[in-house]
Amino acid sequence: MSFPAKRLRRLRTSEKMRELVQETRLSSKDFICPVFVQEDLKTRIKIESMSEIERLPLEDINDEVKTIIDLGIPAIMLFGIPTHKDEIGSSAFDEKGIVQKAISQIREKFGDKIVIMADVCLCQFTSTGHCGIIQGDKIDNDISLVTLAKIAVSLAKAGVDTVSPSAMMDGQVAAIRKALDDEGFTDVSIMSHSAKHRSNFYAPFRNAAECAPKFGDRKTYQVPYTNAREAMMEVESDINEGVDIVMIKPALSYLDIIAETRRKFNVPVAAYSVSGEYALVKAASQLGFVNEDDITSEILTSIKRAGADMIVTYFAKSAARFLQQS
Ligand code: PBG
Repeated sequence: MSFPAKRLRRLRTSEKMRELVQETRLSSKDFICPVFVQEDLKTRIKIESMSEIERLPLEDINDEVKTIIDLGIPAIMLFGIPTHKDEIGSSAFDEKGIVQKAISQIREKFGDKIVIMADVCLCQFTSTGHCGIIQGDKIDNDISLVTLAKIAVSLAKAGVDTVSPSAMMDGQVAAIRKALDDEGFTDVSIMSHSAKHRSNFYAPFRNAAECAPKFGDRKTYQVPYTNAREAMMEVESDINEGVDIVMIKPALSYLDIIAETRRKFNVPVAAYSVSGEYALVKAASQLGFVNEDDITSEILTSIKRAGADMIVTYFAKSAARFLQQS
């Protein structure tokens, strides 16, 4: 009888041995926790499409941030739901806007104990639900850039650490960088949704943030999910425009893009595990088909193993809790 030349099972013999050879370790320090803040809201409301995720009134934001800090999570990503929407998305750059208020309140209370990131986009704030400004029957790239830059500066004035443009307008990183620098905000960083794909996995988020397009779709600005090389061109152009962190979005169906970005470039890579990824796991676990924490651990670890340095995930708090216990 011939013996196996290599016995890989030797390194799987005990828990401690497996720990010793473990290549990828998940930590609460990897997470960025999304937070939804809604203007004029009296009490928290549950988001129907995203079990256990809520929209919070401004008054509850500091409690939520305290919970996040206590769980060892280093960063939040703020999304605002305004009361007033118009064609130019003016609530997005209002210095008294809901996101601006949330930022200054968090900054005042917690100083630098948390990295405050905020989405820079128009779809929650425009009556059209599109991520850019409409001129005629088109989304006008360059007019939208002026507004995106204005939003970024208003968030910087409120005290944000990192702005996260997700509109997928060409040149958004360069426009925002220049505007921030011109206003003296040279330390405010940019984490761009660099390769944001036109994905069906965003559907539950549109219910969360009331940002579904009122007509048409986002195919003229988001990357087709068929195109990996095009995603790399998006990442490369953001790097050339001065981005600090690139983001790939969604995460789980895009691990190839995350891995390729990690191999090709030296910038920090974030992955956004989006609402649809969350909703699928929640639905399956509520039906009893999978164990929620076990499958979440596997999914988040695989995103990290693919090359992500950090993960925006709706599981941030629950994963931080099970990691504390393990
Ligand atoms: C809007 C925006 C979207 C998401 C984040 N910012 C939705 C979209 O592009 O339609 C999706 C996030 C998620 O699904 O979790 N710019």
